[in-house]
Amino acid sequence: MPAPAKRKTTKKRIAIFDTTLRDAEQCPGAAMTTEEKLKVAHQLARLGVDVIEAGFPYSSPGDFDAVQRIVKEIKGPTIVGLSLCRPDAIDTTAQALKIGKRVRLHVFLSTSPQHREFILRKRKEEVLEMAVSSVRRARDQIAEVEFSPMDATRTEFDYLCQVVEGAIEAGASIVNIPDTLGYALPHEFGDLIRRLRETVPNIDKATISVHCHDDLGLATANSLAGVLNGATQVECTINGLGERAGNAALEEIAVILDTRQELKRKFETGINLKEIYRTSRLVRDVTGVPVQPNKAIVGENAFAHSSGVHVDGVIKLLQRRASFEIVRPQRIGRDRSEIVLTSRSGRKAVRHRLAELGYELSTTELESTYQRFLALADQRKEVTDDELESLVADELRLAHEIYALDYMHVVSGGTTIPSATVRLRRNGEVFQAVASGVGSVDAVYTAIHKVVKVPHSLVDYTVSSVTGGTDALGEVTVRISDKSDIVYTGRGTSMDIIEASAKAYLAALNKAVFRAEGGAGRRKSRKKSKPKA
Ligand code: KIV
Ligand code: ZN
Repeated sequence: MPAPAKRKTTKKRIAIFDTTLRDAEQCPGAAMTTEEKLKVAHQLARLGVDVIEAGFPYSSPGDFDAVQRIVKEIKGPTIVGLSLCRPDAIDTTAQALKIGKRVRLHVFLSTSPQHREFILRKRKEEVLEMAVSSVRRARDQIAEVEFSPMDATRTEFDYLCQVVEGAIEAGASIVNIPDTLGYALPHEFGDLIRRLRETVPNIDKATISVHCHDDLGLATANSLAGVLNGATQVECTINGLGERAGNAALEEIAVILDTRQELKRKFETGINLKEIYRTSRLVRDVTGVPVQPNKAIVGENAFAHSSGVHVDGVIKLLQRRASFEIVRPQRIGRDRSEIVLTSRSGRKAVRHRLAELGYELSTTELESTYQRFLALADQRKEVTDDELESLVADELRLAHEIYALDYMHVVSGGTTIPSATVRLRRNGEVFQAVASGVGSVDAVYTAIHKVVKVPHSLVDYTVSSVTGGTDALGEVTVRISDKSDIVYTGRGTSMDIIEASAKAYLAALNKAVFRAEGGAGRRKSRKKSKPKA
Protein backbone atom coordinates (compact mmCIF):
# COMPACT_ATOMS: atom_id res chain seq x y z
CA MET A 1 0.00 0.00 0.00
CA PRO A 2 1.51 3.39 -0.89
CA ALA A 3 2.49 5.55 2.07
CA PRO A 4 -0.09 8.26 2.75
CA ALA A 5 0.97 11.55 1.22
CA LYS A 6 2.46 13.91 3.80
CA ARG A 7 0.22 16.86 4.46
CA LYS A 8 2.00 20.05 3.47
CA THR A 9 2.13 22.59 6.27
CA THR A 10 0.29 25.73 5.38
CA LYS A 11 1.54 27.54 8.44
CA LYS A 12 3.38 30.80 8.03
CA ARG A 13 6.90 30.64 9.44
CA ILE A 14 7.65 33.58 11.72
CA ALA A 15 11.39 34.21 11.92
CA ILE A 16 12.63 34.96 15.42
CA PHE A 17 15.36 37.60 15.36
CA ASP A 18 17.05 37.80 18.74
CA THR A 19 18.73 41.09 19.63
CA THR A 20 19.74 40.30 23.23
CA LEU A 21 23.41 40.73 22.34
CA ARG A 22 22.80 44.13 20.76
CA ASP A 23 19.68 46.01 21.93
CA ALA A 24 19.63 44.37 25.37
CA GLU A 25 23.37 44.75 25.76
CA GLN A 26 22.83 48.51 25.51
CA CYS A 27 20.67 48.58 28.61
CA PRO A 28 22.38 49.85 31.78
CA GLY A 29 24.30 47.15 33.58
CA ALA A 30 23.77 44.46 30.95
CA ALA A 31 27.15 44.79 29.24
CA MET A 32 28.67 41.40 28.49
CA THR A 33 32.20 40.25 27.83
CA THR A 34 33.01 38.43 24.59
CA GLU A 35 33.09 35.08 26.41
CA GLU A 36 29.68 35.76 27.92
CA LYS A 37 28.28 36.78 24.54
CA LEU A 38 29.55 33.53 23.05
CA LYS A 39 27.88 31.50 25.80
CA VAL A 40 24.59 33.28 25.17
CA ALA A 41 24.95 32.93 21.39
CA HIS A 42 25.47 29.15 21.70
CA GLN A 43 22.37 28.90 23.85
CA LEU A 44 20.35 31.05 21.42
CA ALA A 45 21.33 28.63 18.66
CA ARG A 46 20.12 25.73 20.83
CA LEU A 47 16.90 27.64 21.47
CA GLY A 48 16.33 27.68 17.72
CA VAL A 49 16.30 31.40 16.89
CA ASP A 50 16.58 32.15 13.18
CA VAL A 51 18.70 35.25 13.54
CA ILE A 52 21.14 36.53 16.17
CA GLU A 53 22.00 40.22 16.16
CA ALA A 54 25.48 39.88 17.61
CA GLY A 55 26.44 43.51 18.08
CA PHE A 56 27.50 46.83 16.68
CA PRO A 57 31.01 46.22 15.26
CA TYR A 58 31.75 49.89 14.56
CA SER A 59 31.10 51.00 18.13
CA SER A 60 34.20 49.44 19.71
CA PRO A 61 37.02 46.98 19.03
CA GLY A 62 35.44 44.75 21.70
CA ASP A 63 32.14 44.66 19.79
CA PHE A 64 33.97 44.04 16.53
CA ASP A 65 35.83 41.03 17.99
CA ALA A 66 32.71 39.66 19.65
CA VAL A 67 30.73 39.78 16.39
CA GLN A 68 33.59 38.15 14.49
CA ARG A 69 33.93 35.33 17.01
CA ILE A 70 30.19 34.71 16.98
CA VAL A 71 30.24 34.61 13.16
CA LYS A 72 33.10 32.08 13.29
CA GLU A 73 31.74 29.83 16.04
CA ILE A 74 27.96 29.77 15.82
CA LYS A 75 26.38 27.41 13.32
CA GLY A 76 22.71 27.56 12.36
CA PRO A 77 21.26 31.04 12.82
CA THR A 78 22.06 33.98 10.56
CA ILE A 79 24.42 36.39 12.34
CA VAL A 80 23.72 40.09 12.06
CA GLY A 81 25.93 43.13 12.56
CA LEU A 82 24.20 46.49 13.07
CA SER A 83 25.54 49.62 11.40
CA LEU A 84 24.90 53.33 11.17
CA CYS A 85 24.26 54.69 7.67
CA ARG A 86 27.84 55.90 7.30
CA PRO A 87 30.35 54.57 4.79
CA ASP A 88 33.09 53.84 7.37
CA ALA A 89 30.61 52.15 9.72
CA ILE A 90 29.20 49.98 6.92
CA ASP A 91 32.69 48.95 5.77
CA THR A 92 33.79 48.06 9.32
CA THR A 93 30.61 46.04 9.90
CA ALA A 94 31.03 44.23 6.57
CA GLN A 95 34.60 43.46 7.57
CA ALA A 96 33.44 41.81 10.80
CA LEU A 97 30.84 39.70 8.97
CA LYS A 98 32.67 38.74 5.78
CA ILE A 99 34.23 35.58 7.15
CA GLY A 100 30.78 33.99 7.60
CA LYS A 101 28.34 32.31 5.23
CA ARG A 102 25.01 33.11 6.90
CA VAL A 103 25.43 36.75 7.72
CA ARG A 104 23.36 39.92 7.39
CA LEU A 105 24.27 43.58 7.52
CA HIS A 106 21.60 45.69 9.23
CA VAL A 107 21.65 49.41 8.52
CA PHE A 108 19.41 51.84 10.36
CA LEU A 109 18.57 55.50 9.99
CA SER A 110 16.08 57.74 11.78
CA THR A 111 13.25 58.88 9.53
CA SER A 112 10.79 60.68 11.86
CA PRO A 113 10.53 64.49 11.64
CA GLN A 114 11.76 64.83 15.23
CA HIS A 115 14.90 62.77 14.58
CA ARG A 116 15.53 64.29 11.11
CA GLU A 117 15.39 67.77 12.53
CA PHE A 118 17.04 67.45 15.94
CA ILE A 119 19.44 64.51 15.59
CA LEU A 120 20.38 64.24 11.92
CA ARG A 121 19.72 67.88 10.97
CA LYS A 122 18.86 66.76 7.45
CA ARG A 123 16.02 67.27 5.03
CA LYS A 124 13.73 64.47 3.87
CA GLU A 125 15.49 64.10 0.51
CA GLU A 126 18.91 63.88 2.17
CA VAL A 127 17.74 61.19 4.60
CA LEU A 128 16.20 59.20 1.74
CA GLU A 129 19.43 59.46 -0.24
CA MET A 130 21.49 58.35 2.80
CA ALA A 131 19.25 55.30 3.29
CA VAL A 132 19.44 54.28 -0.37
CA SER A 133 23.19 54.77 -0.78
CA SER A 134 23.88 52.98 2.52
CA VAL A 135 21.84 49.93 1.53
CA ARG A 136 23.69 49.89 -1.82
CA ARG A 137 27.07 50.12 -0.13
CA ALA A 138 26.11 47.34 2.29
CA ARG A 139 24.80 45.15 -0.57
CA ASP A 140 28.06 45.59 -2.48
CA GLN A 141 29.81 43.82 0.38
CA ILE A 142 27.26 41.49 2.01
CA ALA A 143 24.52 39.61 0.13
CA GLU A 144 21.79 39.96 2.77
CA VAL A 145 20.89 43.45 3.93
CA GLU A 146 18.22 44.60 6.39
CA PHE A 147 17.10 48.21 6.62
CA SER A 148 15.40 49.89 9.59
CA PRO A 149 13.76 53.33 9.39
CA MET A 150 14.25 54.20 13.04
CA ASP A 151 11.28 55.79 14.83
CA ALA A 152 9.08 54.51 11.99
CA THR A 153 5.90 54.82 14.02
CA ARG A 154 6.33 58.62 14.26
CA THR A 155 7.34 59.02 10.60
CA GLU A 156 4.92 60.57 8.07
CA PHE A 157 3.27 57.58 6.35
CA ASP A 158 3.89 58.70 2.74
CA TYR A 159 7.52 59.45 3.48
CA LEU A 160 7.97 56.11 5.30
CA CYS A 161 6.61 54.35 2.19
CA GLN A 162 9.10 56.24 0.00
CA VAL A 163 12.05 55.28 2.22
CA VAL A 164 10.98 51.63 2.46
CA GLU A 165 10.50 51.46 -1.32
CA GLY A 166 13.90 53.07 -1.91
CA ALA A 167 15.66 50.69 0.49
CA ILE A 168 14.10 47.62 -1.17
CA GLU A 169 14.95 48.96 -4.62
CA ALA A 170 18.56 49.44 -3.45
CA GLY A 171 18.78 45.79 -2.36
CA ALA A 172 17.39 45.39 1.17
CA SER A 173 15.62 42.04 1.42
CA ILE A 174 14.34 42.65 4.96
CA VAL A 175 12.68 45.89 6.08
CA ASN A 176 12.25 46.27 9.78
CA ILE A 177 9.63 48.63 11.20
CA PRO A 178 10.72 49.79 14.66
CA ASP A 179 8.49 51.33 17.28
CA THR A 180 11.66 52.84 18.72
CA LEU A 181 10.06 54.72 21.60
CA GLY A 182 7.39 52.15 22.39
CA TYR A 183 4.69 54.72 21.65
CA ALA A 184 2.32 52.86 19.32
CA LEU A 185 -0.91 51.13 20.29
CA PRO A 186 -1.49 47.61 18.96
CA HIS A 187 -4.29 48.54 16.53
CA GLU A 188 -2.20 51.45 15.16
CA PHE A 189 0.89 49.33 14.75
CA GLY A 190 -1.04 46.52 13.05
CA ASP A 191 -2.62 49.06 10.70
CA LEU A 192 0.77 50.52 9.88
CA ILE A 193 2.10 47.12 8.79
CA ARG A 194 -1.05 46.41 6.76
CA ARG A 195 -0.98 49.81 5.04
CA LEU A 196 2.72 49.44 4.20
CA ARG A 197 1.93 46.09 2.59
CA GLU A 198 -0.91 47.64 0.63
CA THR A 199 0.98 50.77 -0.44
CA VAL A 200 4.67 50.11 -1.06
CA PRO A 201 4.80 48.80 -4.66
CA ASN A 202 7.85 46.51 -4.25
CA ILE A 203 7.04 45.29 -0.70
CA ASP A 204 6.65 41.70 -1.94
CA LYS A 205 10.39 41.58 -2.59
CA ALA A 206 11.14 41.96 1.12
CA THR A 207 10.41 40.32 4.44
CA ILE A 208 8.59 42.65 6.82
CA SER A 209 10.03 42.67 10.31
CA VAL A 210 8.82 44.34 13.52
CA HIS A 211 10.90 45.70 16.41
CA CYS A 212 8.85 47.01 19.34
CA HIS A 213 9.94 48.65 22.57
CA ASP A 214 8.06 48.31 25.84
CA ASP A 215 7.83 51.87 27.17
CA LEU A 216 4.05 51.54 27.52
CA GLY A 217 4.13 47.82 28.22
CA LEU A 218 2.87 47.04 24.71
CA ALA A 219 5.92 45.59 22.97
CA THR A 220 4.59 42.03 22.80
CA ALA A 221 1.05 43.13 21.89
CA ASN A 222 2.40 45.41 19.15
CA SER A 223 4.67 42.70 17.74
CA LEU A 224 1.74 40.31 17.66
CA ALA A 225 -0.39 42.92 15.89
CA GLY A 226 2.42 43.21 13.35
CA VAL A 227 2.41 39.45 12.76
CA LEU A 228 -1.38 39.38 12.39
CA ASN A 229 -1.03 42.02 9.69
CA GLY A 230 1.69 40.38 7.64
CA ALA A 231 5.06 40.76 9.37
CA THR A 232 7.06 37.53 9.19
CA GLN A 233 10.03 38.45 11.37
CA VAL A 234 9.86 39.53 15.02
CA GLU A 235 12.82 41.22 16.70
CA CYS A 236 12.89 40.48 20.41
CA THR A 237 15.11 39.73 23.39
CA ILE A 238 15.37 37.21 26.19
CA ASN A 239 13.57 38.37 29.36
CA GLY A 240 12.46 41.44 27.35
CA LEU A 241 15.73 43.20 28.15
CA GLY A 242 16.63 46.22 26.07
CA GLU A 243 16.90 49.99 25.90
CA ARG A 244 14.89 51.73 28.66
CA ALA A 245 11.82 49.55 29.39
CA GLY A 246 13.14 46.89 27.03
CA ASN A 247 12.05 45.09 23.89
CA ALA A 248 9.36 42.53 23.13
CA ALA A 249 10.20 39.38 25.12
CA LEU A 250 11.13 36.43 22.94
CA GLU A 251 9.65 33.93 25.39
CA GLU A 252 6.29 35.70 25.31
CA ILE A 253 6.11 35.83 21.51
CA ALA A 254 7.10 32.16 21.12
CA VAL A 255 4.73 30.89 23.81
CA ILE A 256 1.79 33.02 22.62
CA LEU A 257 2.14 31.69 19.06
CA ASP A 258 2.22 28.15 20.43
CA THR A 259 -0.50 28.45 23.08
CA ARG A 260 -3.43 30.09 21.37
CA GLN A 261 -4.83 27.48 19.00
CA GLU A 262 -6.13 29.98 16.47
CA LEU A 263 -2.57 31.32 16.16
CA LYS A 264 -0.90 27.91 16.26
CA ARG A 265 -3.01 26.83 13.30
CA LYS A 266 -1.67 29.73 11.23
CA PHE A 267 1.88 30.38 12.43
CA GLU A 268 4.97 28.50 13.50
CA THR A 269 8.42 29.41 14.77
CA GLY A 270 11.62 27.39 15.00
CA ILE A 271 11.83 27.91 18.76
CA ASN A 272 12.41 24.86 20.93
CA LEU A 273 10.22 25.88 23.85
CA LYS A 274 12.01 23.47 26.19
CA GLU A 275 15.10 25.70 26.01
CA ILE A 276 13.30 28.89 27.05
CA TYR A 277 13.78 28.71 30.79
CA ARG A 278 17.46 27.86 30.73
CA THR A 279 18.11 30.62 28.17
CA SER A 280 16.35 33.08 30.46
CA ARG A 281 18.45 31.92 33.43
CA LEU A 282 21.68 32.16 31.46
CA VAL A 283 20.94 35.71 30.32
CA ARG A 284 20.01 36.67 33.88
CA ASP A 285 23.26 35.19 35.15
CA VAL A 286 25.62 36.75 32.63
CA THR A 287 24.00 40.18 32.59
CA GLY A 288 23.27 40.26 36.29
CA VAL A 289 19.89 41.82 35.48
CA PRO A 290 17.29 40.03 37.61
CA VAL A 291 14.00 38.78 36.19
CA GLN A 292 11.01 40.29 37.98
CA PRO A 293 9.21 37.52 39.91
CA ASN A 294 5.90 38.18 38.16
CA LYS A 295 7.42 38.27 34.64
CA ALA A 296 5.25 36.28 32.22
CA ILE A 297 6.59 32.82 31.32
CA VAL A 298 10.01 33.04 33.02
CA GLY A 299 9.36 34.87 36.31
CA GLU A 300 9.81 32.95 39.55
CA ASN A 301 6.06 33.19 40.32
CA ALA A 302 4.80 32.69 36.77
CA PHE A 303 3.55 29.19 37.63
CA ALA A 304 3.05 29.54 41.38
CA HIS A 305 -0.57 29.30 42.44
CA SER A 306 -1.04 30.58 45.95
CA SER A 307 -4.52 31.97 46.36
CA GLY A 308 -6.74 29.39 48.10
CA VAL A 309 -9.11 28.85 45.23
CA HIS A 310 -6.29 28.27 42.75
CA VAL A 311 -4.27 25.91 44.96
CA ASP A 312 -7.42 23.94 45.61
CA GLY A 313 -8.17 23.97 41.88
CA VAL A 314 -4.72 22.74 40.94
CA ILE A 315 -4.88 19.87 43.41
CA LYS A 316 -8.38 18.77 42.48
CA LEU A 317 -8.01 19.12 38.79
CA LEU A 318 -4.59 17.63 38.23
CA GLN A 319 -5.98 15.70 35.27
CA ARG A 320 -7.65 18.81 33.90
CA ARG A 321 -4.76 21.20 34.36
CA ALA A 322 -6.02 23.55 31.68
CA SER A 323 -8.49 24.99 34.22
CA PHE A 324 -5.74 26.96 35.91
CA GLU A 325 -2.57 26.48 33.88
CA ILE A 326 -2.69 27.84 30.37
CA VAL A 327 0.98 26.94 29.93
CA ARG A 328 2.56 23.87 31.55
CA PRO A 329 5.92 24.79 33.15
CA GLN A 330 7.47 21.66 31.62
CA ARG A 331 6.78 23.03 28.13
CA ILE A 332 9.36 25.74 28.61
CA GLY A 333 11.85 23.49 30.40
CA ARG A 334 10.89 24.20 34.03
CA ASP A 335 10.95 20.61 35.21
CA ARG A 336 11.44 19.59 38.80
CA SER A 337 14.24 17.12 39.39
CA GLU A 338 13.79 13.61 40.68
CA ILE A 339 17.38 13.67 41.99
CA VAL A 340 18.16 15.06 45.42
CA LEU A 341 21.69 16.41 45.57
CA THR A 342 23.55 15.97 48.86
CA SER A 343 27.19 15.90 49.94
CA ARG A 344 27.25 12.22 48.94
CA SER A 345 26.23 12.92 45.34
CA GLY A 346 29.20 12.34 43.12
CA ARG A 347 30.40 14.36 40.13
CA LYS A 348 28.21 12.24 37.88
CA ALA A 349 24.99 13.22 39.63
CA VAL A 350 25.94 16.89 39.68
CA ARG A 351 26.91 16.80 36.01
CA HIS A 352 23.64 15.04 35.17
CA ARG A 353 21.52 17.61 36.99
CA LEU A 354 23.47 20.47 35.45
CA ALA A 355 22.87 19.00 32.00
CA GLU A 356 19.15 18.71 32.79
CA LEU A 357 19.19 22.36 33.76
CA GLY A 358 20.88 23.13 30.46
CA TYR A 359 24.42 23.91 31.51
CA GLU A 360 27.23 22.68 29.35
CA LEU A 361 30.40 23.30 31.30
CA SER A 362 33.95 22.55 30.31
CA THR A 363 35.82 19.95 32.41
CA THR A 364 37.61 22.68 34.36
CA GLU A 365 34.40 24.67 34.96
CA LEU A 366 32.64 21.49 36.06
CA GLU A 367 35.41 20.53 38.46
CA SER A 368 35.50 23.95 40.06
CA THR A 369 31.68 24.06 40.33
CA TYR A 370 31.76 20.59 41.91
CA GLN A 371 34.30 21.67 44.51
CA ARG A 372 32.10 24.61 45.46
CA PHE A 373 29.07 22.32 45.46
CA LEU A 374 30.85 20.07 47.99
CA ALA A 375 31.72 23.02 50.21
CA LEU A 376 28.06 24.04 50.26
CA ALA A 377 26.67 20.50 50.54
CA ASP A 378 28.88 19.85 53.58
CA GLN A 379 26.97 22.51 55.45
CA ARG A 380 23.42 21.47 54.62
CA LYS A 381 21.22 18.46 53.94
CA GLU A 382 20.37 19.17 50.36
CA VAL A 383 21.49 21.52 47.58
CA THR A 384 18.56 22.90 45.59
CA ASP A 385 18.47 23.69 41.87
CA ASP A 386 18.52 27.41 42.60
CA GLU A 387 21.65 27.00 44.70
CA LEU A 388 23.30 24.85 42.07
CA GLU A 389 22.51 27.43 39.41
CA SER A 390 23.93 30.12 41.65
CA LEU A 391 27.21 28.22 41.86
CA VAL A 392 27.31 27.94 38.07
CA ALA A 393 26.58 31.63 37.70
CA ASP A 394 29.53 32.30 40.02
CA GLU A 395 31.64 30.03 37.84
CA LEU A 396 30.66 31.93 34.67
CA ARG A 397 31.62 35.19 36.34
CA LEU A 398 34.98 33.77 37.39
CA ALA A 399 35.77 33.22 33.71
CA HIS A 400 36.81 36.86 33.44
CA GLU A 401 38.11 37.37 36.93
CA ILE A 402 40.98 39.85 36.89
CA TYR A 403 41.34 40.49 40.63
CA ALA A 404 40.42 37.46 42.76
CA LEU A 405 39.50 37.55 46.43
CA ASP A 406 42.13 35.60 48.28
CA TYR A 407 41.43 36.37 51.92
CA MET A 408 39.18 38.63 53.95
CA HIS A 409 38.95 39.40 57.66
CA VAL A 410 36.31 41.67 59.17
CA VAL A 411 36.03 43.04 62.69
CA SER A 412 32.71 44.61 63.72
CA GLY A 413 29.97 44.67 66.33
CA GLY A 414 29.05 46.58 69.50
CA THR A 415 31.16 49.66 69.94
CA THR A 416 34.02 48.60 67.63
CA ILE A 417 34.75 50.63 64.53
CA PRO A 418 34.15 48.19 61.68
CA SER A 419 37.39 47.38 59.88
CA ALA A 420 38.42 44.98 57.14
CA THR A 421 41.60 43.44 55.79
CA VAL A 422 41.44 42.10 52.24
CA ARG A 423 43.99 40.29 50.16
CA LEU A 424 43.47 40.20 46.40
CA ARG A 425 45.41 38.36 43.76
CA ARG A 426 46.07 39.37 40.17
CA ASN A 427 48.21 37.20 37.86
CA GLY A 428 49.98 35.67 40.84
CA GLU A 429 50.73 39.08 42.40
CA VAL A 430 49.27 39.69 45.87
CA PHE A 431 47.78 43.00 47.07
CA GLN A 432 46.67 43.69 50.61
CA ALA A 433 44.76 46.61 52.13
CA VAL A 434 43.14 47.56 55.42
CA ALA A 435 40.29 50.04 55.88
CA SER A 436 37.59 51.06 58.30
CA GLY A 437 34.05 52.07 57.41
CA VAL A 438 30.63 52.91 58.75
CA GLY A 439 29.72 49.24 58.58
CA SER A 440 31.37 45.92 57.66
CA VAL A 441 30.44 46.08 53.98
CA ASP A 442 31.63 49.68 53.75
CA ALA A 443 34.96 48.72 55.33
CA VAL A 444 35.43 45.81 52.92
CA TYR A 445 34.52 47.95 49.90
CA THR A 446 36.91 50.72 50.94
CA ALA A 447 39.73 48.20 51.39
CA ILE A 448 39.03 46.60 47.97
CA HIS A 449 38.93 50.02 46.33
CA LYS A 450 42.36 50.84 47.78
CA VAL A 451 43.70 48.00 45.61
CA VAL A 452 41.42 48.19 42.56
CA LYS A 453 41.68 51.87 41.80
CA VAL A 454 39.36 52.12 38.81
CA PRO A 455 37.24 55.30 39.30
CA HIS A 456 33.55 54.57 39.79
CA SER A 457 30.51 55.27 41.90
CA LEU A 458 28.16 52.79 43.53
CA VAL A 459 24.74 52.86 41.86
CA ASP A 460 22.96 50.06 43.61
CA TYR A 461 23.50 47.35 46.24
CA THR A 462 20.90 44.64 46.90
CA VAL A 463 20.88 41.54 49.04
CA SER A 464 18.59 38.57 48.60
CA SER A 465 18.59 34.94 49.59
CA VAL A 466 18.68 32.13 47.06
CA THR A 467 16.73 29.87 49.42
CA GLY A 468 14.93 30.39 52.74
CA GLY A 469 16.30 29.99 56.28
CA THR A 470 19.16 31.52 58.23
CA ASP A 471 21.63 29.15 56.57
CA ALA A 472 20.45 30.34 53.14
CA LEU A 473 22.84 31.11 50.37
CA GLY A 474 22.90 34.90 50.19
CA GLU A 475 23.11 36.68 46.88
CA VAL A 476 24.34 40.24 46.49
CA THR A 477 23.98 42.33 43.35
CA VAL A 478 26.08 45.44 42.97
CA ARG A 479 25.90 48.03 40.20
CA ILE A 480 28.64 50.58 39.71
CA SER A 481 29.12 53.23 37.02
CA ASP A 482 32.39 54.48 35.59
CA LYS A 483 33.43 57.98 34.41
CA SER A 484 31.56 57.49 31.12
CA ASP A 485 28.41 56.46 32.98
CA ILE A 486 28.69 52.89 31.79
CA VAL A 487 27.04 50.65 34.36
CA TYR A 488 28.58 47.31 35.37
CA THR A 489 26.71 44.68 37.34
CA GLY A 490 28.36 42.17 39.64
CA ARG A 491 26.77 39.33 41.58
CA GLY A 492 28.21 37.20 44.33
CA THR A 493 26.86 34.35 46.41
CA SER A 494 28.00 32.91 49.70
CA MET A 495 26.55 31.68 52.96
CA ASP A 496 28.27 34.71 54.46
CA ILE A 497 26.65 37.94 53.28
CA ILE A 498 29.83 40.04 53.74
CA GLU A 499 31.75 37.63 51.53
CA ALA A 500 28.92 37.65 48.95
CA SER A 501 29.11 41.47 49.04
CA ALA A 502 32.86 41.44 48.45
CA LYS A 503 32.52 38.98 45.56
CA ALA A 504 29.75 41.04 43.92
CA TYR A 505 31.71 44.29 44.22
CA LEU A 506 34.82 42.65 42.82
CA ALA A 507 32.87 41.12 39.91
CA ALA A 508 31.56 44.57 38.94
CA LEU A 509 34.99 46.17 39.39
CA ASN A 510 36.61 43.45 37.24
CA LYS A 511 34.27 44.36 34.39
CA ALA A 512 35.18 48.05 34.74
CA VAL A 513 38.89 47.20 34.84
CA PHE A 514 38.47 44.95 31.79
CA ARG A 515 36.96 47.83 29.82
CA ALA A 516 39.32 50.48 31.20
CA GLU A 517 42.28 48.36 30.14
CA GLY A 518 40.94 48.07 26.60
CA GLY A 519 39.38 44.58 26.80
CA ALA A 520 36.03 45.73 25.52
CA GLY A 521 36.81 49.42 25.38
CA ARG A 522 35.43 51.78 22.88
CA ARG A 523 37.27 52.34 19.62
CA LYS A 524 39.95 54.78 20.67
CA SER A 525 40.84 56.17 17.25
CA ARG A 526 37.30 57.40 16.65
CA LYS A 527 35.66 59.59 19.21
CA LYS A 528 32.04 58.63 19.39
CA SER A 529 29.70 56.70 21.56
CA LYS A 530 27.33 53.87 20.86
CA PRO A 531 24.17 55.45 19.45
CA LYS A 532 21.06 54.71 21.44
CA ALA A 533 18.78 52.55 19.36
O1 KIV B 1 14.71 50.63 18.46
C1 KIV B 1 15.20 50.78 17.34
O2 KIV B 1 14.73 51.57 16.51
C2 KIV B 1 16.40 50.00 17.01
C3 KIV B 1 16.85 50.00 15.58
C4 KIV B 1 18.32 50.01 15.47
C5 KIV B 1 16.27 48.83 14.86
O3 KIV B 1 16.93 49.32 17.85
ZN1 ZN C 1 15.59 48.93 19.57
